[in-house]
Amino acid sequence: MKVISLNKAQFGMVLAMDVRDTTGKVIFKKNTPLDEKVIAVLKKSGIFTIPVKNQKNTITGLQKETQKYGVVSKEHLDLGFKKIKSVFKVLEDSGNIDIDTVVDIASTIKEDIEKNFSDKLFVPLKKLQTFDEYLYSHSLNVMIISTLLGVEAGIIGDELLSLSISALLHDIGKTKVPIEIMNAPRKLTQEEMQIMRNHVKFGKELCIQNNIKDIGIVAGVYEHHERFDGKGYLEGKTNEMISDFGKLISIADVYDALTSTRSYKGPWTPYKTISFILSNVEKQFDGRFAQGLINAFGVYPVGTRVKLSNGQFGTIVASNRSNKIRPLIKIDRGDTIDLSEEKTIRIVEVLDYIYIE
Ligand SMILES: [Fe+2]
Repeated sequence: MKVISLNKAQFGMVLAMDVRDTTGKVIFKKNTPLDEKVIAVLKKSGIFTIPVKNQKNTITGLQKETQKYGVVSKEHLDLGFKKIKSVFKVLEDSGNIDIDTVVDIASTIKEDIEKNFSDKLFVPLKKLQTFDEYLYSHSLNVMIISTLLGVEAGIIGDELLSLSISALLHDIGKTKVPIEIMNAPRKLTQEEMQIMRNHVKFGKELCIQNNIKDIGIVAGVYEHHERFDGKGYLEGKTNEMISDFGKLISIADVYDALTSTRSYKGPWTPYKTISFILSNVEKQFDGRFAQGLINAFGVYPVGTRVKLSNGQFGTIVASNRSNKIRPLIKIDRGDTIDLSEEKTIRIVEVLDYIYIE
């Protein structure tokens, strides 16, 4: 049990003891799950702190629901993480890319996405609390998102596999950037920033040294920080000069970076991140590919807490590609409903966001 400030109360927490109002009357019994209604009553009753159990059970329940719609299996996500970590370790030590393992990770994830791609989607990503392993989880996530955006854009077969490989390798050049610069919890100096920016050049060099000849793969690695309006790096290329792989990977890269916790910032919600990317279409990003983000993640991404027009509360567990404002929602202490079938119910409010892997 822990006692927390009522301001920190979140959906999914459960009261660890009876809670009484100022007159001593019990207003909520032990084991009451917190939802927006309970929290509102507690606030009204002048309560400032509450005793809660931990949140694990609710998240596990939501995880079970989302996995029914997962575009990548949990097993392959975990295995992919383990393998890419070992690829990076070898690369950091020797400069060698274990290309067999890279192809193995990319084809497994690509096949999962091709097999599971449907109207009702959940996109599982690997988000970590530790900063030192960010590069590994980020590489895996950018590959998953890029592959999805590729499918949305009609890329298939070997070209899709090349895109997945390019996305998985997009930041390999960071293994050549000193660790103090990589993890600096502050703004970089101009000189440090230039070294950091060079990671795209280092990445291209590593590809060439390792005999990677696929032009698309190398272009994705080299151009993922170029921007539509020419304000990116390393060359300041504009729209038509940037390869499709470079453009696709740049969107996946920004999506994953903004929704992650970094040493210098907390995570943005998927909703805020997608809004940011869409508001920068034709400035930083190519609209043809940015649209794929909404298709894959929905207007209300998985984990978004909402209030419904019938007074119930719930959490989004899958998006609906054919009806983006009507996703699948797990009702608190109830079943999952598909809003595209329950036409009389609608979302009236977005409340909060819970990260679900
Ligand atoms: Fe990068």
